[in-house]
Amino acid sequence: MDPQRIYIFDTTLRDGEQSPGCSMNQEEKLMMAKQLARLGVDSIEAGFAASSPGDFQSVQMIGHELKGPRVVSLCRVMDNDIDAGVNALKGSHNWGIHCFISTSDLHLKEKLRIDRAQALAKAVRAVERAKAHTENVEFSCEDATRSDIEYLIEICSAVVKAGATILNIPDTVGYTTPLEMYALFNRLKNEVYRGDEVVFSAHCHNDLGLAVANSLAALQGGAKQIECTINGIGERAGNTSLEELVMALQVRGQYYGLKHQVDTTQLIHSSKLLTKLTGQLVQANKAIVGDNAFAHESGIHQDGMLKNRLTYEIMTPESVGLSKSNLVMGKHSGRAALVERVKELGYQVNDEELARIFEEFKKLADKKKVVYDEDLELLIAGDRVQRKDRYRLLRINVFSGTDAPPTATVTLMRDEEELPPHSALGAGPIDAGLNCIKEILGSTCRLTKFSVQSITGGTDAQGIVSIGVEEGGLATSGRGSNTDIFIAAAHAFVDALNRLELKKTNQAKASVETI
Ligand code: KIV
Ligand code: ZN
Repeated sequence: MDPQRIYIFDTTLRDGEQSPGCSMNQEEKLMMAKQLARLGVDSIEAGFAASSPGDFQSVQMIGHELKGPRVVSLCRVMDNDIDAGVNALKGSHNWGIHCFISTSDLHLKEKLRIDRAQALAKAVRAVERAKAHTENVEFSCEDATRSDIEYLIEICSAVVKAGATILNIPDTVGYTTPLEMYALFNRLKNEVYRGDEVVFSAHCHNDLGLAVANSLAALQGGAKQIECTINGIGERAGNTSLEELVMALQVRGQYYGLKHQVDTTQLIHSSKLLTKLTGQLVQANKAIVGDNAFAHESGIHQDGMLKNRLTYEIMTPESVGLSKSNLVMGKHSGRAALVERVKELGYQVNDEELARIFEEFKKLADKKKVVYDEDLELLIAGDRVQRKDRYRLLRINVFSGTDAPPTATVTLMRDEEELPPHSALGAGPIDAGLNCIKEILGSTCRLTKFSVQSITGGTDAQGIVSIGVEEGGLATSGRGSNTDIFIAAAHAFVDALNRLELKKTNQAKASVETI
């Protein structure tokens, strides 16, 4: 094993996906997983197989489709969870089980209501159960950074004896600091049984904005694996941001002296794809992937940049995958230019997908003078994720102004059937469109969130609308993008209703299975 090699464990599809507003359906998860494989991460935590039939299927599908990275399922230290993870992944090319239990006295006493010895026994049993099926067993001590270190050493040693190959030390609540993290890993590595043979891993949360700094400190203390997410999404303030961690290791390569196998030119694509799939935009000043990360506004900076880029740039935009092409895509661009651009953006599309993207591209180019890379990425992703939906928006026309009540007329497809057009009024044109869709489908769902964001610049920008809905205790969200926000909102609402439909089906299947 190369002593300088470190491993990137991506949990965008598990810790990231479980955070508010970031849920994805199975196809979206698979699409993201394929992009993570192109990015070159070593492991992908595809979900929590025991948590729902939908998660089980996603983990299974990703495990069986991917041939490169190791695909892992999260499991509590319970027989059912381990079995669900194993059943979802067995037969996959490269897979493992990641099981966890809390180790802090606070969690043991208040949350699990068990003592340290009971937690240790459960952990050992779970690791042994997983090990019977796979060589790759990771064990996590939830809330490790608020746990007694003597107990951490004891439980980690016990699970290594039981067969764990990776020991993950999460800063579950984002409480620790870099120097503490360094010291913790240093000590665990020296005092845990076979500490020099197992892979130590860090999993940091960003509650104090220290997740990346703590992860880097863990590496200096001896960790070999970092758990992180694209755009830093994850519970509460999120997890370690993959792009920030990797670029710190890259830009400060001589200082850290560590090697990874991430293709950094795929970082921007990965970030943009996640934004499209979840509707969660990153802030403009976000390191590496924010809109302003490579923008130079002040005169003094621009002057320096023109003389020598190194004056104000510590990495090139190209190194993270920002397009260096000046090729302007517009309504005169042909299929060949589109194919070239799609390839440059890092996507592989088949002929059928290309035909559809080209058609959409021509429609968009008619509305906008310039079709930016971001627009194209929306088209590519949109095409891939909308295919299996039950409902589809065929047409929407909105009438609104100072002298007439806002009215929308909508035509929807249900399965393969075109439903009769229907009109409805609303407090505003968006409200009218959403009312109309609800009336056509007889939906009783309640709107829990509505947000509009512009993803590209200018007044002809593409807007992304995110909508949250709730019905009968089931909650989900939908996204839609278009240059016209009324159309984007209608797409987002139909998307949310499709996801709700899927949740209902999964819930019905689960209750049949438990009967
Ligand atoms: O934050 C955490 O502790 C986790 C574990 C389940 C790894 O996500
Ligand atoms: Zn976490």
